[in-house]
Amino acid sequence: MPEKRNQPIRGLEGIVAADTSLSFVDGQNGKLYYRGYDIDELAGRITFEEVVHILWFGELPNRKQLDNLRSSLVSEMRLPGQVYDLLRLAPPNANPMVIMRTALSSMGMYDPDGGVNTEEANMRKARRILAQVATIVASLHRIRSGLPLLSADGRMEFAENFLYMLRGRPPDEVERKAFDTTLVLHADHGLAASTFAARVTVSTLAGMHSAISAALASLKGPLHGGANRKVIEMLDEIGIPEGVSAYIDGMVANGRRIMGFGHRVYKTEDPRSRHLRKYSEELCNKAGLSHLFQISHQIEEMVMMRKKIRPNVDFYSATVQEALGIPREYFTCIFAVARSAGWIAHVMEQFRDNRLIRPTSNYIGGFDRKYHDIEER
Ligand code: COA
Repeated sequence: MPEKRNQPIRGLEGIVAADTSLSFVDGQNGKLYYRGYDIDELAGRITFEEVVHILWFGELPNRKQLDNLRSSLVSEMRLPGQVYDLLRLAPPNANPMVIMRTALSSMGMYDPDGGVNTEEANMRKARRILAQVATIVASLHRIRSGLPLLSADGRMEFAENFLYMLRGRPPDEVERKAFDTTLVLHADHGLAASTFAARVTVSTLAGMHSAISAALASLKGPLHGGANRKVIEMLDEIGIPEGVSAYIDGMVANGRRIMGFGHRVYKTEDPRSRHLRKYSEELCNKAGLSHLFQISHQIEEMVMMRKKIRPNVDFYSATVQEALGIPREYFTCIFAVARSAGWIAHVMEQFRDNRLIRPTSNYIGGFDRKYHDIEER
């Protein structure tokens, strides 16, 4: 019988599983860097496409590079006809993240580079996947609401187009900036669970569509991207700012988790929540939803007081999206579209220096059990 091995590190906390030059989460100092650029420098100043360029190509784009990336994304936004059919045939009450994952997975069958994992093919697939995940989300909402589908408008940026194709009206300047920055802030975040899932998947040399499908599956859970939807449900349940204290006391007394709070890596403020707080206040006031911001702010203070835990990216992104008029069931899908930029960059990084990711487990079952024929069991 083999000797017992080392105890597993639960949740792989603190385990270094990859080298990456894409993003660094500095949990001690509450900082996030994309390829060495501090997110505080970038947020509110650059568009989502510029972050995509940083992640995929390592540098901020010049004007020509940005125009090229922008127009290639817009030109890839149409889905294969079969994928529109899939969206139409999905059960009306299915979770949009499940449909998104299924639709993206199915797109691997129609992609002309489907089975090819060369650098060139991956670059083409990268553009298609990022453009098409946005169209999947926008089209799903329009189909389910009985609204006509809208095509991307070549004069608009990615974030504007996405919001336009989803809601049917282009954003005003305040909305555009808030939504664009929300995408910027969600684009990459170290080795998050979904990113790890993507890297594990391509480490077997499965392709990019398989990896992004795995990442979408992982993001869906409420301990990861699914938290933003739970946050807005919590705000509804609380209803008025005066209800916050009793609600949080009850949650703490019952040992329940408060959605949108806590993080595996940040030991101080999540810098993304700081930026989103500002947009949440601005947009909630503009949309006549200032009570939602007030409730959120009080929750933040109460949770800090009672548990010494701070909000993460999902907390204020919930009210930003609510105030932008994005239907709640799509909140996690919006996160997924933004994070696709990072997943794709990680997939390409993993491909460039791949080794199969295959850890071991600590076997805690028995030995020497005797086999019995089925009649004897
Ligand atoms: N509400 C209440 N308590 C929380 C909490 C939350 N949101 N997040 C962490 N804690 C507490 C845990 O109860 C635990 O306390 P204990 O040591 O007294 O048992 C401690 O903080 C550590 O939690 P743990 O679950 O070990 O941390 P983790 O690193 O595994 O979890 C998260 C990280 C994100 C999964 C966790 O903070 C969480 O569940 N948050 C809510 C979901 C969420 O917002 N997810 C989005 C993440 S971006």
